[in-house]
Amino acid sequence: MATASLHLTILLHLLTVATAVATSTHNATTADEAYWWERGEAARSVNRAAYVSDPVAALNRFNADVLQSTTSRRLLAKYTGPCVATNPIDRCWRCRGDWAGDRKRLASCVRGFGHRTRGGADGRIYVVTDAGDEEMVVPKKGTLRYGVIQDRPLWIVFARDMIIQLRQELIVNHNKTIDGRGAQVHITGAQITIQGVQHVIIHNVHIHHSVHHSGGMIRDSKHHYGLRTRSDGDGISIMSSSNIWIDHVSMSNCSDGLIDVVSGSTAITISNGHFTKHDHVMLFGASNSDPQDKIMQITVAFNHFGKGLVQRMPRCRFGFFHVVNNDYTHWLMYAIGGNQNPTIISQGNRFIAPNDVNAKEVTKREYAAYDEYKEWVWKSQGDVMMNGAFFNESGGQNERRYDQLDFIPAKHGKYVGQLTQFAGTLNCRVGKPC
Ligand SMILES: *[C@@H]1O[C@H](CO)[C@@H](O)[C@H](O)[C@H]1NC(C)=O
Ligand SMILES: *[C@@H]1O[C@H](CO)[C@@H](O)[C@H](O)[C@H]1NC(C)=O
Ligand SMILES: *[C@@H]1O[C@H](CO)[C@@H](O)[C@H](O)[C@H]1NC(C)=O
Ligand SMILES: *[C@@H]1O[C@H](CO)[C@@H](O)[C@H](O)[C@H]1NC(C)=O
Repeated sequence: MATASLHLTILLHLLTVATAVATSTHNATTADEAYWWERGEAARSVNRAAYVSDPVAALNRFNADVLQSTTSRRLLAKYTGPCVATNPIDRCWRCRGDWAGDRKRLASCVRGFGHRTRGGADGRIYVVTDAGDEEMVVPKKGTLRYGVIQDRPLWIVFARDMIIQLRQELIVNHNKTIDGRGAQVHITGAQITIQGVQHVIIHNVHIHHSVHHSGGMIRDSKHHYGLRTRSDGDGISIMSSSNIWIDHVSMSNCSDGLIDVVSGSTAITISNGHFTKHDHVMLFGASNSDPQDKIMQITVAFNHFGKGLVQRMPRCRFGFFHVVNNDYTHWLMYAIGGNQNPTIISQGNRFIAPNDVNAKEVTKREYAAYDEYKEWVWKSQGDVMMNGAFFNESGGQNERRYDQLDFIPAKHGKYVGQLTQFAGTLNCRVGKPC
């Protein structure tokens, strides 16, 4: 059965690659394809500028920050006491009683490669009062869709608990924060698309049961709407975009990936998330023939990869990936994988392998023989390995730049339980520390 599902996975993967190649190399034949091609081109130079030439320095800054600003205080598993922030991102805002009066402070709390992300911090607050999503071309005022398509920066909040059942992909414009604090907000039914834009923060929302849609006329900004083709049913799909921060989300059970990052996107942090019930969790780089993904730089930190997950936490191509202080408590096939010479620095994680003797390896090289992958820099440092988990390292011996001596060690994996204790959405009450 494992072999059958593996074959199915490979087949699906090949199909995905074929689709990605087909869409990225053929020229626009309609006005809408031309529109998105131009937006992608315009974003490309901005994305390139967001790439940093010394990712190890960025990694070291992140680790130094965690080491300096965390305590080793032990908390009960089901902690109900006064607010306590267990990592530097949370420490920046969570336990302040006035978080609701000072929501934009959050934008100064991001760490890692996405650390410059402003979201909608330079704009007004927009309150979602209407959970509906009926109009794709002229979205109704008060809906989430009306907020995200605006051209000006906006900090989007929610008037109350709500379930937003999207009828088509939700296309997010530049400079937006979706801030679910103070309510329990569920976004379901279709994917959140972040395409050709910069500065987006998604915070404290539940995202699940996104399914594919065949497309149609959809507005993507104040001045433009057009024909969109099929959306895959990812949870969040990030394409040709930079300065993106996804924090404290709870995500599960979407029909494609939970988070896909493709087409030369970079400067991204995914933190404090709780991920469950899903096969293809995170895909960073969708195509072997898309070397623009060499600029991809992503921090994956303080997340809990939990029950019902299978693989790709993440699966990487080409770029530089700092996977640090995450808790991996469940996987069926593997945790971290990839191909096309990605650099993967795994530090201070906890990997608890499944009981299946064939799935103890954390890592997986896709379609590459040893001769090819021996050069790929995949390093494990300060990770805690449990239940027989092992990380097969490779590469870097001749590259002084990536020698482990150059890395500031992360906070050790034995502290991961605390660092990730509050992963996923939080139940913040206005007027109280969260
Ligand atoms: C696509 O269009 C560009 C510029 O318009 C052109 O240079 C290129 O040759 C075209 N490619 C194909 C495959 O038609
Ligand atoms: C987004 O906001 C930044 C400032 O935070 C500004 O420089 C930029 O021009 C904005 N982008 C767009 C497309 O409005
Ligand atoms: C995901 O949701 C679908 C539809 O509700 C359900 O049939 C399926 O069992 C769920 N999958 C997992 C892994 O929970
Ligand atoms: C681990 O990697 C080495 C080469 O770096 C390879 O020879 C070995 O077969 C791998 N082990 C497993 C269990 O995959």
